Amino acid sequence: MTVRTFARAGVVLLLGLGLGLASSSSTQAGVKPTITKQAWGSVGGQTVDRYTLTNGKFRVRILTYGGILQTVETPDRHGRMANVTLGFGSLGGYVTSKNPAYFGALIGRYGNRIAKGKFTLDGQTYQLAINNDPNSLHGGNVGFDKRVWSATPVAGRNTVALRLSYVSPNGEENYPGTLRTTVTYTITKNRGIRIDYRATTGKATVVNLTNHAYWNLGGEGTGTIDDHKLQLKASRYTPVDSTLIPTGKLDRVAGTPMDFRRPTAIGARNRSNFQQIVYGRGYDHNWVLDRRTKGLEVAARVSDAASGRTLTISTTEPGIQFYGGNFLDGTLYGTSGKAYRQGDGLALETQHFPDSPNHANFPSTVLRPGQVLRSTTVYQFGTL
Ligand code: GLA
Repeated sequence: MTVRTFARAGVVLLLGLGLGLASSSSTQAGVKPTITKQAWGSVGGQTVDRYTLTNGKFRVRILTYGGILQTVETPDRHGRMANVTLGFGSLGGYVTSKNPAYFGALIGRYGNRIAKGKFTLDGQTYQLAINNDPNSLHGGNVGFDKRVWSATPVAGRNTVALRLSYVSPNGEENYPGTLRTTVTYTITKNRGIRIDYRATTGKATVVNLTNHAYWNLGGEGTGTIDDHKLQLKASRYTPVDSTLIPTGKLDRVAGTPMDFRRPTAIGARNRSNFQQIVYGRGYDHNWVLDRRTKGLEVAARVSDAASGRTLTISTTEPGIQFYGGNFLDGTLYGTSGKAYRQGDGLALETQHFPDSPNHANFPSTVLRPGQVLRSTTVYQFGTL
């Protein structure tokens, strides 16, 4: 049995998955994938674990608290590793700050905003917490990002995975129905993170699940993402009002700073006085993906010429929220101890459209008993 050591104190358990686990050098290509578990503190009396999943030259750390993607280490064009996701170096960082930027977290029950926290389903009106005045954001006061999930490692042939589960009781955060959610993070052999979401309910409800990781392909804490180039496979987006609630229209991106159909530097237009950009203090909008099938399709590509790192996001979802880290204001100190300032990371949240429960023309987010919600998103890392 092999034991790997961690920089931080804690219990290290190697999980025998029948993977033929490697003893060391697990970051070398060709070595079998590994998963290790480390006690990482506790919250409200519940133990939190941190899992480290390594597959070749790619390493990902996931917390059972919020299902948070804590670190993602991937090589640049010279093979140098860096952690490309924003987060904190300790559980206290997430808990004390309440992780107001939702770094790396799983978001539920409803990712993004619901206008005035109100929706009507089957004739009954539900009032959710107003935690982003005047709206409800990312599942309310204590969303999935602040719950402790149960975790099970899953072995694959060339992959390593962690299955997280959380049962949200009927009425939690005022949402109807007991919601059983399973989220599986799979680390593929070519530096990919695949997230499979599955949910069932005991009573009709609304659900919109996503992950809120922020990316900086130069490495977290190294500055802004203004020079990153972004491409979105979307010819329309959902314009918003001043509180970032969709008006209900699907507007064309053509001729506006919302047009990312060709790779464009984020900093080229995020100081524009285009009304939508003014409302979001930059980009904080949902793009309507140009989909051809119901399957996994490429939604976004990000590249950083300086490091040579690239990220391609594929999803089965109809939309993607591109948020440019506009509300990061230098008050949070991240994993490597640096303050995160405006634009130091970008989030690309695959999702159904914001406020769908109040827009009959948007794809439905209603889940009924007997139905199974299934959704997949893949984050594929590479180099130029
Ligand atoms: C989402 C929202 C943003 C912001 C972040 C968290 O991306 O759209 O407006 O609230 O979450 O800071």
